Amino acid sequence: MHDDDKRLAAEAAVAEIRDSMLVGIGTGSTVAFAIRAIAARLGDLRRCVFFSTSIATDQEARDAGIPIGRFALASRLDLTIDGADEIDPGLRVIKGAGGALLREKIVAEASDRMVVIADGSKRAERLGAAALPVEVLPFARSFVAARLAALGAEPVLRMAEEGAWRSDQGNIILDCHFVSFPDPGDLAVQLQAIPGVMGHGLFVREVDAAYVADRGVVTKMERNPD
Ligand code: 5RP
Repeated sequence: MHDDDKRLAAEAAVAEIRDSMLVGIGTGSTVAFAIRAIAARLGDLRRCVFFSTSIATDQEARDAGIPIGRFALASRLDLTIDGADEIDPGLRVIKGAGGALLREKIVAEASDRMVVIADGSKRAERLGAAALPVEVLPFARSFVAARLAALGAEPVLRMAEEGAWRSDQGNIILDCHFVSFPDPGDLAVQLQAIPGVMGHGLFVREVDAAYVADRGVVTKMERNPD
């Protein structure tokens, strides 16, 4: 059921891609459906250049026959399609359960339009049920954890079998639950101001639209122009 909804949301977003666009591809199981949908349209999208947000997506895209450009040489993209862990009615989003939040934030910020795709389980009236991932320079681990606790978070070091989980950049992740989730805009500013925080999974203004599918029905949410 969730997989059908992920696929439907992904296909609706991929329909936004026009030939010649510069397109960012996010990370995760919903994005995997977008990769398949892009691969199926490659003949129509010959002049597009695609960029990925993680080593995992690089591999998945190349396996599907989608050539991936070097984001280091790109200063702006037209459109990025990515997944989400929580989406509130104001299109504020928590991302990063897959650990690609830093590259995802950079690619989203570089994009004229960012669209998230999800099944209906990702809708939330208020953010905060999902852990908020914070990517941290390993050197600053305890200092940043203390600063996060002072903001009301309970930071937990993300683990892998062989020890602390590492991002594509070699950083660690502190997954944060909050007893009471602060105002997302204020929190984003405070997190970014902590030295040693490389990025966080709170996307307050980056998301322009969301395709969310519930039991076979796709709903499009579009940010109102300010
Ligand atoms: C990875 C992400 C993912 O997009 C997010 O976790 C959603 O993943 P999925 O589609 O597998 O539920 O932010 O860093």
